[in-house]
Amino acid sequence: MCVADRSVISPMKALILAGGAGTRLRPITHTSAKQLVPVANKPILFYGIEAMVSAGITEIGVIVGDTRAEVMAALGDGSQWGAQITFIPQDAPLGLAHCVLIARDFLGDDDFVMYLGDNLLEQDLGAFVRAFESARASSEPPTAQILLKQVPDPHRFGIAELDANGNVVHLVEKPADPPTDLALVGVYLFDRTINTAVREIKPSGRGELEITDAIQWLVDQGHRVRCELLTGWWIDTGKLTPLLEANRLLLEVIEPRIDGDVDSESSVDGRVVVEAGAVVRNSTLRGPLVIGANAIITDSFIGPYSAIGNGCEVVHSEIEHSVIMERSRIIDIPRLEDSLIGKEAEVVRSGRKPRALRLMIGDHCQIDTE
Ligand code: TTP
Repeated sequence: MCVADRSVISPMKALILAGGAGTRLRPITHTSAKQLVPVANKPILFYGIEAMVSAGITEIGVIVGDTRAEVMAALGDGSQWGAQITFIPQDAPLGLAHCVLIARDFLGDDDFVMYLGDNLLEQDLGAFVRAFESARASSEPPTAQILLKQVPDPHRFGIAELDANGNVVHLVEKPADPPTDLALVGVYLFDRTINTAVREIKPSGRGELEITDAIQWLVDQGHRVRCELLTGWWIDTGKLTPLLEANRLLLEVIEPRIDGDVDSESSVDGRVVVEAGAVVRNSTLRGPLVIGANAIITDSFIGPYSAIGNGCEVVHSEIEHSVIMERSRIIDIPRLEDSLIGKEAEVVRSGRKPRALRLMIGDHCQIDTE
């Protein structure tokens, strides 16, 4: 069989990682999957699924951990995206390469994209997938392809060193003295050789099977590892500040649309989405922002880069640059900014002292600012 036939016989698969501990987003991740936190009112993980489908990949394996029930309920069988999803349970977050190890039955001998479920990319992945496929049909087929992004602070990332032909020669995790400024983005393309690599490597000092070690193993065995440079933005949403940044970047490009009920006492300015069933009374909406379905906004100011989830209630409050998850209530808060509020939480002020709040609070919490 010739190499070019492979794409016809076995199309590329995707492995999306949606397990993990999510320690950096506590307390939200005590009760919820970090990959399901919404940015611009859509769960982060949905952007990843959509990126796979728009790159032409519909056979998708999803690694799930402690939060599997919630992730499985949110994704279903994948038919809402025209995809087929297979869930692969991981008992403990033992590393990115461990995810490849336990996905062996799903992956078979096929090429696949591995995608970190809490990452968001501006660029379409179709071109990267096609670049790998055509390189695979060349006389020097790579066994892996990584995406790299130039970053100003390389000591915080996995960093790649390249040879004169642009192939990867060395990978190093969070180096004190970075050899380059090329960080590994959370998207990798592999052929079946990675299945051997993840068996050969040993757990790292932090007890995880590292994907960087598996890729280094490929290089050390004389395999070619290609790279592609990303130009658009890329965000690892695992912490609060980048999550709010992703929310900002996605809201900046939303198509304005008012499907809810905004009364004549209210004003709407900039890119604003008000979903069906939402009610806005005597309030100012200054976009970019989104108000979710069936939310109620009364006597309030909702400022730029705010995403108010479905069924939320905001009364006599001012909110800016924040993600408020579904069915939460914000009552009498003079100013809430740079905040992430979990589902069904309640932030109220019963006292009189005005103050600005910056909060990250989990699902079902109740805060009285007094
Ligand atoms: P990370 O953000 O590197 O790890 P984490 O989820 O444990 O988070 P934290 O550092 O805050 O504790 O994981 C990247 C993605 O891969 C994320 O979507 C979780 C997922 N993942 C797994 O599915 N299994 C694993 O064993 C690991 C380490 C991560």
